[in-house]
Amino acid sequence: MTQAARTAFGEGHPLAEAYVQILATRGIEWGLIGPREADRLWDRHVLNSLAMVPFVPDGATVVDVGSGAGLPGIPLAIARPDLTVTLLEPLLRRFNFLVEAVAELGLGDRVAVVRGRAEEHKATYDVVTCRAVAPLERLVGWCAPLFLPAGELLAQKGSSAQAEVDAASADLRRRHLTARVLEAGGDTFIVRVRPTR
Ligand SMILES: C[S@@+](CC[C@H](N)C(=O)[O-])C[C@H]1O[C@@H](n2cnc3c(N)ncnc32)[C@H](O)[C@@H]1O
Repeated sequence: MTQAARTAFGEGHPLAEAYVQILATRGIEWGLIGPREADRLWDRHVLNSLAMVPFVPDGATVVDVGSGAGLPGIPLAIARPDLTVTLLEPLLRRFNFLVEAVAELGLGDRVAVVRGRAEEHKATYDVVTCRAVAPLERLVGWCAPLFLPAGELLAQKGSSAQAEVDAASADLRRRHLTARVLEAGGDTFIVRVRPTR
């Protein structure tokens, strides 16, 4: 673990270390993480998943849609003990992986794992997070019922962020939503979608 990772996770750094170990072993064995990712789990996945930390309000309820191997939901829950997080994932193998990882990390008191698709999930949250799941327009269609009337969507994107906002603009207007592209360091951006005020 680098000093940057230690600082980013604070007191949670042993848990972050344990999570990286799970990704590097069972994550690869179960095919959730490509074998070539083993050397870049910290930078490319775990630390990258903290990009939205500054934008999540204190004490928020969060649903991580399409969590996969737990990204960004698990790093977010480790770095922010004030959050209550639901990891939503439709695929059985990934769901099973998440159930085991959350239990092993001892996060079960504030991290739930639910098997399902965003567009079929019936609950509302302060914040919906998504990383590498679908283009913004599709995410908004799936996720708006999960954060309305008062919450927000935080979609982690690369350099396509503004183009995705532009492509979704008519749909956003129709739904009375406003999107803003927030810089999160390097070529990582967070698209924040909220009800228009
Ligand atoms: C490319 S993976 C990204 C996983 C993780 N968020 C990450 O950043 O590594 C996309 C994930 O979205 C899930 N997914 C696809 N369609 C979905 C839907 N309609 N609702 C919820 N999750 C979905 C897939 O099962 C898959 O685990």
